[in-house]
Amino acid sequence: MVDEVRRPPAAVVFDALGSRYEKAFASSEAHRGSLRWLTERLPPGARVLDVGSGTGRPTAATLAKEGHRVLGVDVSPVMVETASRQVPGAEFACADIHTMPLEDGSFDAVCVYFSLLQMSRTEQAGLVERLARALRPGGLLAPATVPLDVEDFDGVFMGQPVRVTSFAAQDVVAVVRAAGLTVESQESVMFTPAHPDARPEPHLFVHARRAEGTDAFPGGPDGTRRD
Ligand SMILES: C[S@@+](CC[C@H](N)C(=O)[O-])C[C@H]1O[C@@H](n2cnc3c(N)ncnc32)[C@H](O)[C@@H]1O
Repeated sequence: MVDEVRRPPAAVVFDALGSRYEKAFASSEAHRGSLRWLTERLPPGARVLDVGSGTGRPTAATLAKEGHRVLGVDVSPVMVETASRQVPGAEFACADIHTMPLEDGSFDAVCVYFSLLQMSRTEQAGLVERLARALRPGGLLAPATVPLDVEDFDGVFMGQPVRVTSFAAQDVVAVVRAAGLTVESQESVMFTPAHPDARPEPHLFVHARRAEGTDAFPGGPDGTRRD
């Protein structure tokens, strides 16, 4: 669970933003397109993990409406409370994804929409690798981020001070491939959040799949790597 004494920076920022985040990003057609990519491929009643689930909209709401079993995880108690209220058809947990145990091969899909930006590059790459292992063979990973070559950049996001780290677009894709996944498609767009201080920002949505065979992650007895 979240350590209330030393709160993760993301919890501080997103507790302060709450539903204002959803309003600012609601018109993202690329985000809806990424959800369509998932829903067109998921089996009925798929088990989906949404990392950094925010207010639950649009991701958990869209997937739950399609009949999928969604577990949203977010480090911000305000976001988890909002999502639980707005999307009663999904389950939400308040936790830091870094400390949350993830069983190998347990999800049909994992979404990670814009949740990596307050992690170091090592943490981002390590998390993508863990999430890849949490996919069943043939499972889908849909990460999205702001693909900029920045490390510990101090900025202001919707009025909140933030320290941001990311990768250039080709390095985001490389991180996904290094996790053993096949990138099936990607979409790069410019998006301007509906917020007075906002400027156009690049968004990258990646759509990847774990191989069907058991040898996708060499090293473990069932083909999955054990660290
Ligand atoms: C930019 S918001 C995006 C919310 C949602 N995925 C969307 O696209 O609408 C990022 C979310 O990730 C959450 N987050 C950031 N780091 C996290 C972590 N280590 N564990 C769990 N959630 C995290 C934040 O609290 C925030 O709600």
